[in-house]
Amino acid sequence: MCSLLPLCCSRTESPEAASEHDGHNEALIVGVTGIVGNSLVEALQRPDAPGAPWRIRGIARRPRPRWFEHPDVDYIQCNLLNLSEVTPKLSSLDGVTHVFWVAWEKKSTEEENCEANGFMLRSVLQTLLPVAKRLKHVCLQTGVKHYLGPYFHFGTIKHYRPPFCEDLPRVPGLPNFYYTLEDILFEACSPSSGITWSVHRPNIIFGFAPRNHANVLGSLAIYAAICKHQKLSFNFPGNRQSWETLTNVSDADLVAEQELWAATNPSAKNEAFNVADGDCTSWERLWAVMAREFKLECPAYDGKPVSLEQLLKNKKNVWEQIVVENGLLETAVQDETWWAVDLCLNFPFQVVSCMNKSKEHGFLSYRNSEKSVIYWIRKMKEKNILPDDKFWTS
Ligand SMILES: NC(=O)c1ccc[n+]([C@@H]2O[C@H](COP(=O)([O-])OP(=O)(O)OC[C@H]3O[C@@H](n4cnc5c(N)ncnc54)[C@H](OP(=O)(O)O)[C@@H]3O)[C@@H](O)[C@H]2O)c1
Repeated sequence: MCSLLPLCCSRTESPEAASEHDGHNEALIVGVTGIVGNSLVEALQRPDAPGAPWRIRGIARRPRPRWFEHPDVDYIQCNLLNLSEVTPKLSSLDGVTHVFWVAWEKKSTEEENCEANGFMLRSVLQTLLPVAKRLKHVCLQTGVKHYLGPYFHFGTIKHYRPPFCEDLPRVPGLPNFYYTLEDILFEACSPSSGITWSVHRPNIIFGFAPRNHANVLGSLAIYAAICKHQKLSFNFPGNRQSWETLTNVSDADLVAEQELWAATNPSAKNEAFNVADGDCTSWERLWAVMAREFKLECPAYDGKPVSLEQLLKNKKNVWEQIVVENGLLETAVQDETWWAVDLCLNFPFQVVSCMNKSKEHGFLSYRNSEKSVIYWIRKMKEKNILPDDKFWTS
């Protein structure tokens, strides 16, 4: 990494810039293969999407995966931690009108998270701003850790009591890569820049992402498949707090919908919004839905949390066998995301975000979280990431 210049640039669109492009909106999804990146592509491709028709460009670090079935998306493979890749690959993107930031690099301390993620956002904006004269809006996705503090400190600091509302002050005294990203965003999209911004704060996201860092539902589906294959009890591995208390989660399509709404709607400009499904549920209820969908018994909670990372560390070969026997596409989920499941099912506090602000600004969409679980499980089966019904009923 190297140091970057401050972010400032005059933003008036020149007549030449307008004439070089056909007037269509052009989205740059940074993190296009991620859990919300996938949903954003589908949301933008709908003929009735706000601002349609969209040209879509998407950035990810690794090559275009086989399961990424969007031939119309201009896929840019670029390691954003490497400025010598960023500059040549992004400085020709002069038609971009909207940036959707749904990427993150996971590091082993929050200080490193701040440094790496801050570097990526700053270097992308610094490259784009001078060339993308039509750039109107930047959406930044962060999350509920805005209110909870970084996960390294969960349980050791005083947490806000829910519901979490957008006007709560930042958690003092701790680094937080969400704050680093926000500060870079505010600098780039200052009033004089002519570019607007929005920040989106989901809770645990349910969606489709075969190779991301934090895929709670995808990982639990693999746990279910291993339980099925080995005839193990599908025990809830988390703590009693998660099992019993009300919480909310965020459907990836809903998050994408809110980001697209904010990108194209004047009443959402320069605001931060929570984005949760709009209902309340508990893991007790979600577990029962999952068990039903996977045709597994739903055991009573035994009150004994176990780490799935530990429990499944010797079961990698079991999942690999399931993948081979069922002709599934290989995914990285099982390697990378157990830590996130352990974290999210063992919160030592209650997590409920308030959705009033978003509604008051005009975003009225919602999801039923229990139906959302079923929707995403079926999508994983359809896309050959999970075994089909034959496996679950055998
Ligand atoms: N997942 C959740 O449940 C959840 C919940 C609340 C908040 N959030 C927050 O939402 C934000 C986005 O997370 P996510 O979970 O939606 O993302 P994700 O599914 O893990 O996807 C990350 C994306 O970023 C790309 N990426 C990572 N490092 C990169 C690099 N060095 N260069 C270029 N691309 C890179 C990945 O590309 P490759 O696939 O090629 O690596 C991928 O497309 C984060 O701030 C996260 O904390 C997530």
